[in-house]
Amino acid sequence: MVYHHILVPIDGSQHSLNALEAGIKMAQEEGSIVTALYVVPKAGQLVEIFAIKDVKDAFYQEGESILDKAREIAKSMNFNLSVRINEGTPYKIIIETAQTLNCDLIVMGNQGRSGPSKLLIGSCTQRVLAGAPCPVLVVRE
Ligand SMILES: Nc1ncnc2c1ncn2[C@@H]1O[C@H](COP(=O)(O)OP(=O)(O)OP(=O)(O)O)[C@@H](O)[C@H]1O
Ligand SMILES: [Mg+2]
Repeated sequence: MVYHHILVPIDGSQHSLNALEAGIKMAQEEGSIVTALYVVPKAGQLVEIFAIKDVKDAFYQEGESILDKAREIAKSMNFNLSVRINEGTPYKIIIETAQTLNCDLIVMGNQGRSGPSKLLIGSCTQRVLAGAPCPVLVVRE
């Protein structure tokens, strides 16, 4: 099966960057396009402090530096990567973005920034697995 558009949600963790590398490798074999997505976690109690401009700016700056890491990986693999940054509840935005961009595969890490935990699969990945509109490839370290 050939995938045309692969979505790789990244949170800056090594797990997610490994998933990006795996996604790009697949894309290079199949001629697919890849979009890396960072979701600024504006959820729960964070919603209120996002009203403070400096806080919001700092979150976006962090997001940009995470996307820079993704750009570097793509550059080192000689791959033309698209990147996006959005705010909201990460799993919801990941599912919405996969729908909007018509992605036919999501590649993500089994864990993220909060790992290592006792859980084998992080909560964001669990929720994406439950609600994704397309297949999900979970990359384990
Ligand atoms: N804010 C985010 N933006 C984009 N992708 C994310 C984001 N958070 C997590 N992900 C994706 O989900 C994968 C798993 O991370 P997840 O958050 O589920 O686990 P965790 O951080 O180890 O645990 P926790 O459930 O405590 O957050 C990451 O490797 C990444 O692909
Ligand atoms: Mg997490």
